[in-house]
Amino acid sequence: MRTERPSRTARKVALNIVTLGTKRGMEEVLPPGIVDATVKLLVESGAVSRRAVRFSCSRVAVGIYLAFDWMMPGQFEAFAHRKAFCERQVKKGIAAGARQVLMLGAGYDTLGWRLAPELAGVNFFEIDHPATARLKAKGIEAMGSPANLHFIAEDLGERHLVDVLHANPTWELAAPTVIVVEGLLMYLPPETVETLFEQCAAVSGAGSRVAFTYVGTRANGRPDAGPWTWLVLWLLKVSGEPWLWSMQPEELGLFLKKTTWTIAHDEMDSLDRCGVEFFGVVTK
Ligand SMILES: C[S@@+](CC[C@H](N)C(=O)[O-])C[C@H]1O[C@@H](n2cnc3c(N)ncnc32)[C@H](O)[C@@H]1O
Repeated sequence: MRTERPSRTARKVALNIVTLGTKRGMEEVLPPGIVDATVKLLVESGAVSRRAVRFSCSRVAVGIYLAFDWMMPGQFEAFAHRKAFCERQVKKGIAAGARQVLMLGAGYDTLGWRLAPELAGVNFFEIDHPATARLKAKGIEAMGSPANLHFIAEDLGERHLVDVLHANPTWELAAPTVIVVEGLLMYLPPETVETLFEQCAAVSGAGSRVAFTYVGTRANGRPDAGPWTWLVLWLLKVSGEPWLWSMQPEELGLFLKKTTWTIAHDEMDSLDRCGVEFFGVVTK
């Protein structure tokens, strides 16, 4: 991934959420307050111009997303379901006793900013590439940053999660934790994904969970981005954020065997796939 500039895919997800806020019926899926918070964050951080955000709130923008849905069928609305899935997992984990929430590759996600003020006993951490993390932190600062929301600017392909969190005095290594890995795994090199789950286990206590999303693999071994995979993968590559990792859901059990995590089928909602992504939850 091109690391010197803020993530374009993170901006794309955030703008998608803003546009979904205008689409009828989506208010029943999107987490409460997410659209307004995302608009505020994009503007205050300077990640997107006020004008572009205004356009994203228009019906024309909804029409454009729908017109391009053939490229990745269902993916426009899938972002709303993905956000709702992750937020449900965070709330479930906190209700079950989690004292920390960690968002890996957080992008312009606003869950931490929205939930932290009402959950003073829970620390929220976000890790992202420095260029994206710094821009986001600037926006959150302008919006009023809760004391229990912490930003960490690191490249997880360069530095191990374990080392990053060991060096953080606020992080509790044995606390029950919810870790969210939303829309990130496909951007990481396979060798990073191989060890990431074990590292998540090493920095969290009993009763922790990881909620994650991932893309499947095609017969030719490449990530599956739907019927126009070749085009989508090419566009991602030229944008500087190629997809590097994928896995078929039936391989998940074997993949996790090398870790301390167990697939938590009972923690999943009925939804385990939306658009081109699969959803998963593991616990320990
Ligand atoms: C598609 S965006 C998803 C953002 C957010 N999770 C969401 O769903 O709204 C992928 C995010 O992962 C981050 N990312 C990719 N590779 C990373 C790495 N090696 N270390 C840290 N963050 C990374 C990008 O900067 C970007 O913010």
